[in-house]
Amino acid sequence: MFDFADLLRPDLPPAAARWAGFPKYNFVGGHNDAASVPVDGLIAAATRVLTREGRTLATYGLESGSLGYLPLREFIARKVAKDAGVVCSPDEILITSGSLQGLDLVNHVLLSPGDTVIVEEMTYQGALTRLKRLGVNIVGVGVDHDGLSAERLGRALDDLKRRGVRAKYIYTIPTVQNPTATVMSEARRGELLELSKTYGVPIFEDECYADLIWDGRRPPALRAMAADDRVVHIGSFSKSIAPALRLGYLIARWPLMSRILGIKNDGGSGALEQMILAEYCRDNFDAHV
Ligand SMILES: Cc1ncc(COP(=O)(O)O)c(C=O)c1O
Repeated sequence: MFDFADLLRPDLPPAAARWAGFPKYNFVGGHNDAASVPVDGLIAAATRVLTREGRTLATYGLESGSLGYLPLREFIARKVAKDAGVVCSPDEILITSGSLQGLDLVNHVLLSPGDTVIVEEMTYQGALTRLKRLGVNIVGVGVDHDGLSAERLGRALDDLKRRGVRAKYIYTIPTVQNPTATVMSEARRGELLELSKTYGVPIFEDECYADLIWDGRRPPALRAMAADDRVVHIGSFSKSIAPALRLGYLIARWPLMSRILGIKNDGGSGALEQMILAEYCRDNFDAHV
């Protein structure tokens, strides 16, 4: 067997373990209840959309350009306006391969080793491992029953400012926080935006779980409440439909979006998944959720 060990770059993460099946009690991935995957609806959607538009698979980007399949972006624009008050055009939405790719893209355009970012003290492991690999300084800020504590965030931002450090972003999971499950109140969202303005630090809003609110009423997204473009918003279909689809989205205006597009040079996220999801979601998403 050829030995690549001497050729590998020195800063790689540890080698992956071979998959040996899921453990009996598995708390690692945020998996869905298999019975709730809308298999029949997805089959019907696949048949309809492939019959109608299957030949567009001949082109990278399905004749929709590099932001992703237009009918899916149109659906997301309607969904975030209705559910979270986010007003944006389909051209401010990028379809990503899961929201994990959204995390990677935003990190890629904003972070260099030695930069500082602020995160919730308890937060998503996938976000932390990425930040650690990038060699950035991670400042954790406590969470209370209303979400990220504005008082502690203010102290952290003040402390950084006194040391001459401007954090690159404040990463927050405001709606159904991972892992505490808090839903940030609207008042707290307002306080966060004020702090973001005062200290000139943008907010990176991860709304991965926001469709899964028990009473169906979701507070406005930070992006909806911001008067300007200071909030980058990512969302996902992993929790509402199925994680294996690997479809998420990122919302930003063109000045940042154009820089993000410059590095999303993967030829587009999975086209079949985008087509089927758009076709399914148009008439079924709300009822399914
Ligand atoms: C807070 C948060 N963000 C992002 C993700 C990534 O999800 P996906 O890439 O499947 O959209 C997860 C997954 O569990 C998560 O918990």
